[in-house]
Amino acid sequence: MIGIFDSGYGGLTILNHIRQHLPQYDYLYLGDNARAPYGTRSFDVIYEYTLQAVNYLHQQGCNLIILACNTASAKALRTIQQRDINPDELRVLGVIRPTVEVVPQRTRTKHIGVLATPGTVASESYVIELLKQDPTLTITQQACPMWVPLIESGEHLGDGANYFVEKYLTELLTRDPLIDTIILGCTHYPLLQPKIEAFLEKYEHTKLLIQNSKFKIISQGEIVARSLADYLHRHPDIAERALKNRHALEDNSKFIIHNSKFLTTESATKFSESASLFLSEPITARHIEL
Ligand code: DGL
Repeated sequence: MIGIFDSGYGGLTILNHIRQHLPQYDYLYLGDNARAPYGTRSFDVIYEYTLQAVNYLHQQGCNLIILACNTASAKALRTIQQRDINPDELRVLGVIRPTVEVVPQRTRTKHIGVLATPGTVASESYVIELLKQDPTLTITQQACPMWVPLIESGEHLGDGANYFVEKYLTELLTRDPLIDTIILGCTHYPLLQPKIEAFLEKYEHTKLLIQNSKFKIISQGEIVARSLADYLHRHPDIAERALKNRHALEDNSKFIIHNSKFLTTESATKFSESASLFLSEPITARHIEL
């Protein structure tokens, strides 16, 4: 069984793609909605919360866990990998490395914008990892502290969200007008993607974008799913272990949808309602305490 963790609903955008690419596995999704957002919290708190979630998912039978959260990947992944887990028993993977790998082949101007939570921006993880891919890239980061709260409260499709979409994108593109590739460096942000795309389309028409190229938006779901499929292909032992716990889900069929089970630290009813909308299918979550 594969564990998928996020501070809230954002990881569902990753789970959705992973399930399509790898339907043969079972998934246990955990959203720490009661303590979201993580993006404005300190390093120590993010590390502590993420470790609690990892330990919980491991106890439930997951031996492969995806931190479907950039903030946790940036602030907690390395320490957890190096200090807290035995790789013979458990592997924990993040979402930043696979994302940066696709950037060099997509950009023409080599000017990259990174939209992320304040925590991810402060960690500089994207800057460090992108420069490892190509040291000639110019990277501008933009923290978007209001986006996750808008999504967690279900306000992301309303008109009120337009203000904050325009605000952060305008700030980013004013700081570097040569940006042609924009990374959505938070797994919540694909839920705002229709508004982001609408704004960028308008922006392309009003400002003359260099070489008339269109903005490329890098959204993580598909990228992470492909990278995980590749990882499992290269590590057949881990793939086999991840397949082993299939039956573990069958005990409690009430809250299983297809091959996934959903846990939240918030109200199960609230999570079920919102997650059903995000996944476009009815789900029933269970409340847990971390
Ligand atoms: N979805 C998360 C990320 O990718 C976390 C957002 C938050 O809790 O602030 O960074």
